Amino acid sequence: KKVSLLGVPMDLGQARRGVDMGPSAMRYAGVIERLEKLGYDVRDYGNVVVDERSIEEASHENLKNLSAVVNTSIRIRETVQQMIDDEAFPLLLGGDHSMSIGTLAAITARHENLGVIWYDAHGDLNIPSTSPTGNIHGMPLAVNLGLGHELLTNIGAKKLKPENIVLIGSRDLDEGERVLIKELGIKVFTMHEVDMLGMATVMEQTLQHLAHTDGIHLSLDLDGLDPMECPGVGTPVLGGLTYRESHLAMELLAASGRVTSAEFVEVNPILDERNKTAQVAVALIASLFGDQLL
Ligand code: ARG
Ligand code: MN
Ligand code: MN
Ligand code: MN
Repeated sequence: KKVSLLGVPMDLGQARRGVDMGPSAMRYAGVIERLEKLGYDVRDYGNVVVDERSIEEASHENLKNLSAVVNTSIRIRETVQQMIDDEAFPLLLGGDHSMSIGTLAAITARHENLGVIWYDAHGDLNIPSTSPTGNIHGMPLAVNLGLGHELLTNIGAKKLKPENIVLIGSRDLDEGERVLIKELGIKVFTMHEVDMLGMATVMEQTLQHLAHTDGIHLSLDLDGLDPMECPGVGTPVLGGLTYRESHLAMELLAASGRVTSAEFVEVNPILDERNKTAQVAVALIASLFGDQLL
C-alpha cells in the first residue's frame, strides 16, 4: 500500500492570502503519521514550486494571475505524472482549487474513463465570460471539460466526460454554471438532495452513476463542509455538509475501493481557528484511507 503525497501551496486562483499555507497546516495536523499508522508507505514529494503573483498581471481577460497559474499548473501536472508512474495513490494537499487544473491534466490522461467527485459548495464550472470574480479557482472543472481560455485548456491533453462527473454539496452556483450543468447533464447532489436523501443514499447513487468509470478522483474542497466546522476557507457558504456526513462519505468511498486519487483543497490557516479545518481534513483523509473504529 503506497501513497504519494504532494503539497500545492497555491494561492493564485483567488484573492485572499494564506491558502498557500494549507499544505503545511495539514502536515502539522499529522497527515503522514495518520497514513503510516494505517499501514501505508508514504512517499512525500514535498511542495510544488508556485509562481509569485506579479502586479502587472493582476487581471487578464477576467483571469487573474493567468500566466502564473499556467506555469504552476504545468509543474503540478509533471509531478503528478511522476507520482502515477511510481504506482502509488496520489494524494494532494492544497492550496486553492485552481490546482486541480494541473492535477486532473495528469490523472485524466492516465485513464480511459476517469470519474470525478467534486465535493464542494461551488461548481467551479465558470469560464471567463461567466465568472463573477475572474478568480481561476472558480474555473478548474470547466477547464478540465475543455472550456475556457486556451492557455488553461491546453494544459491537459485529454478532457473529462460530463457524464463522469458528480457534484456533491453544491449550494452556491453562478448563473452560467447552472446553465452549463443543465446543458451537459452533469449529475449534481445539491444540499437539497443531501437533506432529502441522506449521505448514505447520495454516495450509493454517486457510485452507481460512476460505475462505468475506470477510477475515481476525489476533489474535496473544505468549503463543502459547513463553515461552523471548517471556518478556515476563503469562500465560506452557510448550510454546508457536516463533519459526520463527510466522514460517512469517506468511509463509503473507502469501502467501495474505487477511489484512485484525491486532493483536499482550500485550507486557509489564516482564516482558521486553531487549525480546526486542517484537522478535519486530516480526519477525513484517514477515513478515506480506511480508518475504522473497531
Ligand atoms: N463561483 C465563485 C467564483 O467563480 C466562487 C468560486 C469558489 N471556488 C472555490 N474553489 N472555492 O468566483
Ligand atoms: Mn468551494
Ligand atoms: Mn472549489
Ligand atoms: Mn464512521
